[in-house]
Amino acid sequence: MDEGALKSFLEETFAWLHSHPELSYEEHETTAKLKELLTDKHITLLGLPLATGAAAEIGRSGPLVALRADIDGLPITEASGLPYASQNRGRMHACGHDFHAAALLGAAILLKEHEADLPGRVRLIFQPAEENPGGARKVLETGILKGAGAIFALHTSPLLPVGTLGLSPGPVMAAVDRFVIRFRGQGCHAAHPDRGVDVITLAAHFISALQTLVSRNCDPFAANLVSITRVSAGNTWNVLPETAELEGTARSMTKEDRRLIRDRLHALAQGEAAAFGGEALIDWQAGPPPTTNDAGWTDFALAVARRQGFALQDAPKSLAGEDFAYYQEQFPGVFASIGTGLSAPNHSPEFIADPAALLPGARLLAALAAGALGKLAGDSVYTAGL
Ligand code: NI
Repeated sequence: MDEGALKSFLEETFAWLHSHPELSYEEHETTAKLKELLTDKHITLLGLPLATGAAAEIGRSGPLVALRADIDGLPITEASGLPYASQNRGRMHACGHDFHAAALLGAAILLKEHEADLPGRVRLIFQPAEENPGGARKVLETGILKGAGAIFALHTSPLLPVGTLGLSPGPVMAAVDRFVIRFRGQGCHAAHPDRGVDVITLAAHFISALQTLVSRNCDPFAANLVSITRVSAGNTWNVLPETAELEGTARSMTKEDRRLIRDRLHALAQGEAAAFGGEALIDWQAGPPPTTNDAGWTDFALAVARRQGFALQDAPKSLAGEDFAYYQEQFPGVFASIGTGLSAPNHSPEFIADPAALLPGARLLAALAAGALGKLAGDSVYTAGL
């Protein structure tokens, strides 16, 4: 396919995906469309025993490299004003996963053209449910990535102009944990607090104390945070309630800080509860670990991107999470931010990804995969990439 045809194909595919966003685990139409396009391009589909998402392979025997795109949208009403805006009410591709899927399809087409020369196999993963995390873990449980020597993914960035790549070694996005704390005291008449255990005062002390956890326990040069996002207790003015429930999230960039925050939060909740004569029940729900780029493969990816003419910047770091981190726990991986033009932030109803970045994104993914296979196979020709 010549460059002009590929560019138009990517723009059309992106516009179609953008106008048909579906929520996590509901990506049925998206999956059907992607499979249809892959089949059209004679790319081998692999069985992926999940209700949504798709996997494909290019190449024959030899080392294995994986490329991953997520495909789900968000429960947001689009206000981008784009001619190809969402046709699904209350649903929007506001994180650019439509861009990721289209760019991966483009990479597949480019790799297919070189299939006979590839020194190994490239596995393409169109992953469901990144936003409602768990999709990456479900893909891993299928075993489809067994034996992968490296895995790569791009993510849209509205902080970077088209033609720019943001990439750094080490942690770039946070470990994301959620917690629910239930303080139990003893309910009583508001006029006789001495006859009960007031969980509202207890919760207030805990919330204030919690905000010293990061500032007094973590290295001031490290990025960590704890937020309480929901407080619920009581239902009238003259009764002190029996229980208070708090919910929140903890974010950190290293395993060590993550463990420290979890342990200190437990100690603080239990200590405050004991001091007030109540008790604390803590439900800790661990989410993805920090998204952590492998140093060696990051150097390789930076060299490939530089050769392709990308302007390079440090990764725009964030305490948001990304379930690509689950892959990186098992395989060395690189998660890079591709500039999709300055716009409203990801997850905003006005978020826009500029289609001008599609072809460079597809080329970069293809070159990363081919170059990585070359590196793994010790084939000097292919270390140069596509
Ligand atoms: Ni995203």
